[in-house]
Amino acid sequence: MITPDSKYPDDSGHPKDGEPMSGHIRGNARYPIEYARPVRINTSPGDSVDTRIIKYNLYNSFNYSLFLPQDYRTIKLSFGVTSPNRGEGKTTAVCNLATAISLGTGRKTVVVDLNLSNPRIHNVFGIPSGPGLAEALVGEDICVVPTQIDNLFAMPAGNLKVIPPSKFLAFRGLLTSLFKEFEFVLVDMPAVQSRAFPTLIANQLTGLIVVVKAKKTKRRDVSRLFRRVRQETVLAFVMNEIDEKDF
Ligand SMILES: Nc1ncnc2c1ncn2[C@@H]1O[C@H](COP(=O)(O)OP(=O)(O)O)[C@@H](O)[C@H]1O
Ligand SMILES: [Mg+2]
Repeated sequence: MITPDSKYPDDSGHPKDGEPMSGHIRGNARYPIEYARPVRINTSPGDSVDTRIIKYNLYNSFNYSLFLPQDYRTIKLSFGVTSPNRGEGKTTAVCNLATAISLGTGRKTVVVDLNLSNPRIHNVFGIPSGPGLAEALVGEDICVVPTQIDNLFAMPAGNLKVIPPSKFLAFRGLLTSLFKEFEFVLVDMPAVQSRAFPTLIANQLTGLIVVVKAKKTKRRDVSRLFRRVRQETVLAFVMNEIDEKDF
């Protein structure tokens, strides 16, 4: 198991098990309470963590800069991680960010794979490829698997490669269901320029984190991104593959 280092802040002051949690961001109309279905947590956890991908220490400062300005102990947050183009580091970023959040806060976090046609999350955390998101969206059980990382769970993309677009409407209810069980929901999304990018889902999340790749992502790629994504939904950028020599 990967557990927090002693240098991480301890959990003192956080609500203990059994204490009431606030349901949703107070006063935030984005998350109306809807009918929540039970979340089925797999009894056998993932059997590995791909340590070529998970180097979460690099993400700690990012984690703290996201949370320090507000009292994250009383709110539930959902972040979509995307990028203008393919291969800029979305999956790497979302897996590391989810690890840093779950270890740094000690709070239950789930990472959801929204890349139905090219899923990766199940490989990173050594879990089955499904059932997962696709099955949950078409009305089957909502299945989540514990990972080898404390407080981190994963929902793979699932075994249905294609689902009718109308089924994406079920995401709002799925988010409500996941928030009954988890405090942070992180979504590995397709690239914004991809036809599979679900604007509908992006608009239901607390916000987006956009990964750009040093020396690859163009300024015009970012401008194009803002044609499909409202500016206020972007909470942060991650600059991937920076060369320390460039500082
Ligand atoms: N900072 C990094 N250093 C080294 N390799 C990286 C880094 N970020 C991503 N990669 C590699 O680049 C490839 C694409 O990254 P990935 O996170 O899968 O991108 P995306 O999800 O945006 O398509 C993967 O093989 C990944 O391991
Ligand atoms: Mg990816």
